Amino acid sequence: MHALDDVSLRVPRGEVFGLLGPNGSGKTTMIRILSTILAPESGSATVNGFDVVHEANAVRRSIGLAGQYATVDENLTGFENLRMIGRLNHLDRPTVKRRANELLEQFGLTDAATRNVKTYSGGMRRRLDLAAALVATPPLLILDEPTTGLDPQSRQDLWAIIEQLVEDGTTVLLTTQYLEEADRLAKQLVVLDHGRIIAQGTSQELKTRLGATVLSLNFESTDGAVRGAVLLADLAAKPANIEGTVVEYTVDGGPASAADALRRLDGAGIALAGLALREPSLDDVFLSLTGHRAEDATPGETNLDNPGKGRR
Ligand SMILES: Nc1ncnc2c1ncn2[C@@H]1O[C@H](COP(=O)(O)OP(=O)(O)OP(=O)(O)O)[C@@H](O)[C@H]1O
Ligand SMILES: [Mg+2]
Repeated sequence: MHALDDVSLRVPRGEVFGLLGPNGSGKTTMIRILSTILAPESGSATVNGFDVVHEANAVRRSIGLAGQYATVDENLTGFENLRMIGRLNHLDRPTVKRRANELLEQFGLTDAATRNVKTYSGGMRRRLDLAAALVATPPLLILDEPTTGLDPQSRQDLWAIIEQLVEDGTTVLLTTQYLEEADRLAKQLVVLDHGRIIAQGTSQELKTRLGATVLSLNFESTDGAVRGAVLLADLAAKPANIEGTVVEYTVDGGPASAADALRRLDGAGIALAGLALREPSLDDVFLSLTGHRAEDATPGETNLDNPGKGRR
């Protein structure tokens, strides 16, 4: 069993490329190989034209990396952390100071700049870590789940920062578990599952394969759900997903399908407890591509064999 198997991709310059996948799908392994932390067992990769095995130093100089877990030094302040990174990158003192202050401002850390990172919240550490990856303005920025653990406002702020960077010419390779994030940022993306690419294209292409909207019907009883699902069997091209009292369809005409479903259920006297229309999530894309939910363990694998996997 390999963490990555037969994965081949090309990241275009000057845009955001997304690696989308659930826990354990191989995203971090991919990032670690591309940032020279881990050598591939076989196969090859080049980053900015440099080979990750034979020209590892040149690769490292040409990228900024924010790994999945914050790597900032707890015993230094926010400002000192950024200054240290700047010096390691051989930036001159005035530039380091200017960059550090700019980034602290951009990431909402100015007030905390002179406090030890020990006293930072999880989200503040995450933001400082991302700021650290930006000190040297590298042409390629690699971000492993940059917004996991951030609150909605910080996530929006980070998206805006990434968009600005790309506008200024930076290439960004990021991993995420959220289709919404890939959708907002990435032009191209690949979907990983168990170390293999199971889909690639633009998020629009992926969603078109799925249907534009998810219509979620919550019935008052499981019996009602079963009768409703039979009644509405022709509502969508793909079969419904049924879990307890909830029946979900991926449909193209959201509101029209919802109205149609309501009329037919009403006519048959089947009661609903709730109805929602929502954008497809990564989980929906997964279910449609693989037949299993993103967080489900592989059949036959018990959680004892593989404690990192399975339902959380
Ligand atoms: N050093 C290692 N030794 C053995 N197995 C590993 C190692 N690192 C990762 N793996 C395994 O490789 C697979 C892919 O892991 P990886 O960390 O790349 O996933 P991921 O997509 O980043 O997941 P997450 O969303 O949870 O961060 C997992 O099954 C994991 O258990
Ligand atoms: Mg990971």
